[in-house]
Amino acid sequence: MRIVLGVGGGIAAYKVASLLRLFTEAGHDVTVIPTEASTRFVGTATWEALSGNPVSNSVFDDVHLVNHVRLGHEADLVVVAPATADLLAKAVTGQAGDLLTNTLLMAHGPVLFAPAMHTEMWQHAATRANVETLRTRGAAVLEPASGRLTGADSGPGRLPEPQAIFEAAMALVQGRSDYQLPLAGRTVTISAGGTREPLDPVRFLGNRSSGKQGVALAVAARNAGATVRLLAAHMEVPAPAGVEVQRVETALELREAALAAAAGSDVVIMSAAVADFRPAEVSDTKIKKRDDTADPVITLVRNPDILQELVEQRNGSRSGAGQLIVGFAAETGDSQGDVLAYAEAKLQRKGCDLLVVNHVGTDKVFGQDSNAVVILSRAGSEPQEASGTKTEVSEAIIRRISFELNRVSPRA
Ligand code: CTP
Repeated sequence: MRIVLGVGGGIAAYKVASLLRLFTEAGHDVTVIPTEASTRFVGTATWEALSGNPVSNSVFDDVHLVNHVRLGHEADLVVVAPATADLLAKAVTGQAGDLLTNTLLMAHGPVLFAPAMHTEMWQHAATRANVETLRTRGAAVLEPASGRLTGADSGPGRLPEPQAIFEAAMALVQGRSDYQLPLAGRTVTISAGGTREPLDPVRFLGNRSSGKQGVALAVAARNAGATVRLLAAHMEVPAPAGVEVQRVETALELREAALAAAAGSDVVIMSAAVADFRPAEVSDTKIKKRDDTADPVITLVRNPDILQELVEQRNGSRSGAGQLIVGFAAETGDSQGDVLAYAEAKLQRKGCDLLVVNHVGTDKVFGQDSNAVVILSRAGSEPQEASGTKTEVSEAIIRRISFELNRVSPRA
């Protein structure tokens, strides 16, 4: 396929090098047309080397090839990334001052704009009207992702991830109407890692959760266009870029953070390993070993079930209608019942919408792959299996969540 990749003058231009790579590795012939301003961020040498094609934005280079007409005519797809406020405005008013704007006027195939700009610019009435006009005329305009912008601030306006733009472009070419990122405009709260319950200032009761699953889910949700809030208990992996991170230590802290974050979220995913019990008493001073007293006995009390409370909070509030709550469960089968039967009972007990079941132990009914899960739905649809790397499994879970969410609460 012949693709024209227009690059706008925004800092996100550097991410477009990865997008170009995705296109060329998939076997497409890409001509990059960077705007003059964008070459202040990424030089033309980068585009020439990565695309293997000459690069220019002047209608006066290679005039004999009539590029200002030919490129748009021949392109099976035109992608503009980052589509700045300026480029969107130029496209709407049909300006033709350089090779990229000429190409947009000549494009016969589908055109995809992947906007990136500061939140205020994106939300400005002028940009809103321009986006609306372009969509009315048949162009595809992606919703920008939310999260950290160039400075310390955050909000909608980030360039969607290269993989997400790539997938949207392929969907558009196939004539599918789902080119919009599946979680664009949605807020997803994800808890990850293992809680730690203090015994004294230096000791705690913890668990072996690494946080990898939760982080992989956060990445998949971010790539699907969501604003992601990661509630990070103890994790052995770093939090990913492009998500808001709130650190928590204990189950009680996680409970407070989760109930607050859930109030403004479309989806809540409880992938954290939450301690079911905590020490009844936390010593202010380090517990000493002494020869003259008996060895200490730790009494445990039960922690609240956060997942269940999230469901109660959702069910008790009108604004929570349409919110999707997803739990995780690690199950083993035994002589009393099989894994799915136990998981099904847990799903009903907890009241969440989806339960992602990890089969642990030796009796592997879901195959040898340790990253195999089954997704159960309270609405009663058939159990869905997903397996592969943690990334693949997370992508499958996020796809299912997007599907369920758009079913129960269609996008406005
Ligand atoms: N969970 C929670 N609050 C707790 C304990 C667990 O929100 N105090 C959540 C977990 O994040 C997970 C699900 O509930 O989404 C797991 O449920 P849990 O009852 O802990 O199941 P298992 O860990 O599978 O253990 P068990 O079978 O012993 O209940």
